[in-house]
Amino acid sequence: MMLLVLQQVKMKTQCHQDLREMSYTNKISKKLYNQLKKKLNTYSEQYHTYDAPTVSDEEFDRLYSQLKDIETNNPSFIADDSPTQRVGAKVHGGFSKVKHIVPMMSLSNAVNHTDFSSFYKRVNEDAGLMNTKLFAEPKFDGLAICITYQNGEFVSAVTRGDGRVGEDVTSNIKTIKSLPLKLNGTEVPKKLIIVAEVFVFIKDFNMLNKQLEKLDKKTFANPRNFAAGTVRQLDPTICYKRNLQIYIHGIMDIDESYRDSNHSEAMRRLKRFGLNICEHNKKINNESDALEFYNFMNNKRDSLPYEIDGIVYKVDDYALREIIGKTNKAPKWSIAYKFKSLEMRTYLKDVTFQVGRTGIITPVAELDPVNIGGVKVSRASLHNFDEIQKKDICIGDYVFVKRAGDVIPEVDRVDKTKRKNVSKITIPKKCPSCRSSIKRVSTQSIFRCENEYGCMPQIIQSISHFSSRKAMNINGLGESIIISLVENKLIRDYADLFSLKKSDLLKLERMGELSVKNLIDSLEKAKEPSFDRFIFALGIREVGETLARIIANEFKDIHSFMEAKLVALEDIKDIGPIVAKNIEDFFRKEKNVIKINRLIENGVNIRYLQKSFNKHFENKSFVITGSFKIFPRKKIEEYIINNGAKLSSTVSKKTDFLVCGDKPGSKYEKAKNLNVKILNEDEFIKLL
Ligand code: IVH
Repeated sequence: MMLLVLQQVKMKTQCHQDLREMSYTNKISKKLYNQLKKKLNTYSEQYHTYDAPTVSDEEFDRLYSQLKDIETNNPSFIADDSPTQRVGAKVHGGFSKVKHIVPMMSLSNAVNHTDFSSFYKRVNEDAGLMNTKLFAEPKFDGLAICITYQNGEFVSAVTRGDGRVGEDVTSNIKTIKSLPLKLNGTEVPKKLIIVAEVFVFIKDFNMLNKQLEKLDKKTFANPRNFAAGTVRQLDPTICYKRNLQIYIHGIMDIDESYRDSNHSEAMRRLKRFGLNICEHNKKINNESDALEFYNFMNNKRDSLPYEIDGIVYKVDDYALREIIGKTNKAPKWSIAYKFKSLEMRTYLKDVTFQVGRTGIITPVAELDPVNIGGVKVSRASLHNFDEIQKKDICIGDYVFVKRAGDVIPEVDRVDKTKRKNVSKITIPKKCPSCRSSIKRVSTQSIFRCENEYGCMPQIIQSISHFSSRKAMNINGLGESIIISLVENKLIRDYADLFSLKKSDLLKLERMGELSVKNLIDSLEKAKEPSFDRFIFALGIREVGETLARIIANEFKDIHSFMEAKLVALEDIKDIGPIVAKNIEDFFRKEKNVIKINRLIENGVNIRYLQKSFNKHFENKSFVITGSFKIFPRKKIEEYIINNGAKLSSTVSKKTDFLVCGDKPGSKYEKAKNLNVKILNEDEFIKLL
């Protein structure tokens, strides 16, 4: 690390010297220009190819503009591999067609283990081996491009097109920052033609789609379309801004003296040239290796910054590839083993409406069942009515349904080409469950049933939430038991749970002696919740576990929490005005107050935090500003709360102390004006 820092310092000082010399003489030598250009290309490679920047962005920008200035004053200096030359002029009259020297093939697919096994068996037979060595690479969801370097310099890039003839997209591919315009090293082949995949990071794809959406423009359906659409832009500036990525996955031609005997060595050579090779690529020794890698990458898939849709396996040995041969479409020595699609098209039969714990009404798509990645899906979330309108979803449409990991499946988009007789989805006028009136709750089309004490799904789910593991943790009280307890009128709400008797429970269907005993035991055990779990269990809108913990730290007991004024709630860090209002509304409803009292009457004994507070802190009000040297800010906040003091975000007359670090904000001036005591970090530690 130290070495790296020293190296950076050395590089920087030398560069500054160069530039000073330049401005002194005003007549810049070509040598100095080349040095600066080389430095910038190195920095760029470290940043874009190796993800390991060695200079700050500001330093890079500064040097870049120096280079640009020199080029403006000395146009004859401008080198083809100057970083300023990535963005060239617009292409007029469309892209010209180019014939590939060797046709660019496509790949055969495997969609299950059997397909892969028969591929591997055939390869072994053709090769006359037991375990032919393979090379595995992710199948990037992008488009294939053929790139030519001459004497180490980037000269052209052509799309795959129909495999025989593609389009010359040199000006766009040149803008890809991780593609070197000049190969590293002193010895480079005269001719190098490589095949690469051009793709986009998911974050960049989402960002542009959001921008397009705001402008009411058509968005890209998937990252592949994004990459393909971008590579075909006539103005290279657009391509430059969209931040495309590249991985090299093959060599089409290279000088004979540079030829390796296998693909893995060839890829290593390309890497030494500074070309971007995927770090996940792996050598495979046998079938079980291949499957292990497939499973490993399938699990990793969601955490990668780009999309992949399978694994490409290639025979590693080039001589064996020749023996195995190819069909007129695809090589017989390679296969793309696709991941199970996490998206399927199906028919949208109907839309139903679900009422959630807090009364929110969610439209749900009822689908013709489909198998998505091994899971049968017949319902999917439509989120809310704005979403339905935006995606223009109708009953009778064919829709694409997506699922990712454990996430609830959702309708992604409509297949408009299959639209025939469809009907619009209408917003219900009444609660689909209890038929009482519903209310729009935000500027978005989100609706809520207001009948919280009389609407069955709300009652059931609030009891279910109350007894869940992270709340009161009542073992053995599943949703079906809750439903039968409510339907049999044994309970109306969660406050009735603790007055349940053995004889009541025995009346229920499917509840034998043992399960009744277990449930009574768990109810008994659950009677001593910690204060934070109790707060969470109440089910106050938007008060999750974390907030419940913060509240439990702030208040002495449940009564002081119930009586807290809106301003006092808003003053607590992490509680915004909306949540404060939710809390106030909750306790303003008499039914909720009665419920809490009933819980306590029925034996619920809340365990409060046993705090031994520091006398300098107890009941004092603190505000923090600036950054600190010894403790992270979070730690300081924790000390304040854990010692019985209040932490708020704004300085007022009521503030007792402002803990002030480096670079304080406006709070410092305000505290001075209001005569609030100001503590620096050392003084704060002394007080502790
Ligand atoms: S090798 C031009 N390796 O898959 C043929 N292809 O289905 C290149 N692809 O058109 C075949 N990742 O766009 C190869 N690691 C990889 C790949 C890959 C994605 C794409 C490529 C090709 C398509 C064939």
